[in-house]
Amino acid sequence: MPLLKVRNVTKRFGGLVAVDDISFEIRHGETMAIVGPNGAGKTTMFNLINGVFLADEGQMIFEDVDVTHFPSYRRAHLGIGRTFQIPRPFASATVRENIAIGGMFGAAGSEVNVDEALEMADHYIELIGLTPHRDKPAGGLTPIEKKMVEIARALAMKPRLLLMDEAMAGMNPTDIDKMVEFLKDIRDKEGIAIVAMVEHIMRAVAGLAERVLVMHQGAKLVDEPTQEALSDPKVIEVYLGKPAEEFHA
Ligand SMILES: Nc1ncnc2c1ncn2[C@@H]1O[C@H](COP(=O)(O)OP(=O)(O)O)[C@@H](O)[C@H]1O
Ligand SMILES: [Mg+2]
Repeated sequence: MPLLKVRNVTKRFGGLVAVDDISFEIRHGETMAIVGPNGAGKTTMFNLINGVFLADEGQMIFEDVDVTHFPSYRRAHLGIGRTFQIPRPFASATVRENIAIGGMFGAAGSEVNVDEALEMADHYIELIGLTPHRDKPAGGLTPIEKKMVEIARALAMKPRLLLMDEAMAGMNPTDIDKMVEFLKDIRDKEGIAIVAMVEHIMRAVAGLAERVLVMHQGAKLVDEPTQEALSDPKVIEVYLGKPAEEFHA
């Protein structure tokens, strides 16, 4: 059984069809990238999976639950987590407290009290390598450290599907490579499926994703294994604009 089934989902904003009859599946523990030019509908697709927007048409099944009409918090309880493009930690709360918040609002939900959530947070702080910063206010961290806290907060929700919005925007190639290794490790150790939305960082797509969904004008252009997708003439034409070899770095 796939982890998530997206069936003929459409989302309109007034007359604009932002997501146009899209279907695809996400399997347990896989990494997939959603790419496409600006305005293709990627963020809207993310928001539909997450429950920020509800689909106008179509269906979304998470494991065996029809979540089509579920708001975000109910999807979070079932195990759909996300990170935001711009991390906004509670600046005066500590790194540990920020991550604990994820534990209290995630899949473990109401079973977790504050002390347990703080203990859970320590596991993820170690995982992201921020133990020395554990009791410092999150507001004082560097942008990359804030991004790591954002990821740890999402992981503390114990998702089975982690949606990452622009996870690697603004990172240099060394940090991208580190992040790719970190995410693959998480996928393998915690058995989490990861769907990353990546804009124009082919290094991250090629390194991380097993499969790529390319969107164009709201529709699904291709859904293929990564190397096929990156060398697909249709993808090169609408998205890459030049031969794929240049992106295989
Ligand atoms: N909340 C909204 N209200 C109206 N139009 C929107 C809204 N969000 C996105 N759109 C429009 O939907 C289309 C897809 O946008 P988006 O999903 O943000 O694309 P991408 O993330 O691929 O750049 C764009 O034309 C955008 O202007
Ligand atoms: Mg976007």
